[in-house]
Amino acid sequence: MDVAEALRTRSSKRAFTSQPVPRETIEHLLELAGLAPSGSNIQPWHVYVVAGAVRDALCAEVTQAASGDRSAHRREYDYYPDPWREPYLSRRRACGWGLYSLLGIRKGDREASLRQELRNFSFFGAPVGLFFYIERDMQPGSWLDYGMFVQSIMLAARDFGLHTCPQAAWAHFHAIVTRHVGAPPEQMLLCGMALGHADERNPVNTYRPARMAAAEYTRFLGFGDPA
Ligand SMILES: Cc1cc2nc3c(=O)[nH]c(=O)nc-3n(C[C@H](O)[C@H](O)[C@H](O)COP(=O)(O)O)c2cc1C
Repeated sequence: MDVAEALRTRSSKRAFTSQPVPRETIEHLLELAGLAPSGSNIQPWHVYVVAGAVRDALCAEVTQAASGDRSAHRREYDYYPDPWREPYLSRRRACGWGLYSLLGIRKGDREASLRQELRNFSFFGAPVGLFFYIERDMQPGSWLDYGMFVQSIMLAARDFGLHTCPQAAWAHFHAIVTRHVGAPPEQMLLCGMALGHADERNPVNTYRPARMAAAEYTRFLGFGDPA
């Protein structure tokens, strides 16, 4: 698979089959992703990969925590602007409503929304979960590096016929995840990722939220007058 094809066919999948992913495949993916660039080549990533009984226990505990009072569970970092503002608010809403309308979840149906959200915490059925940690004293530059590493995993996965879903949802439950994976206190959880074989029969996996045209976010300078 060439890179353009991997980019075109990667999308966040939210239903996976139980078909296992061999450990050697995951090792291979991580070796490839480790070729990602990072400032001064410092490679600031720490990855915990869960499957089998470890995955199941972690999923059960986080699902239970997410089903109850969540006030004690907060991400350790800010992801989004606070307060939300345009144009991001509209894009966010379009993304959420697009997914929910595909699933037949009506606006205001909190129970169905919660059920869908909770599926995050079983990795949407994927047999493998990855957790990405970074040391707390790392700076925004290293977070930039980290994104490249994570995207590299998702693109490399395509070459193995695998699919992914990056998941910031896990970050709220970092205390539980950290206890299960044994990450040291100086590391903090950035996000998780589901990895496996997409369930192509599940309509949720047809969801492809629209993108802006490059012309909307790009200015070309010094290219001469447009023809
Ligand atoms: C860092 C990151 C965290 C994300 N967290 C979640 C998540 O917790 N749950 C989820 O269903 N999707 C999550 N997504 C997927 C986004 O919603 C998705 O990338 C976006 O809507 C674009 O769709 P696509 O990935 O299918 O192209 C996340 C994406 C990124 C990059």
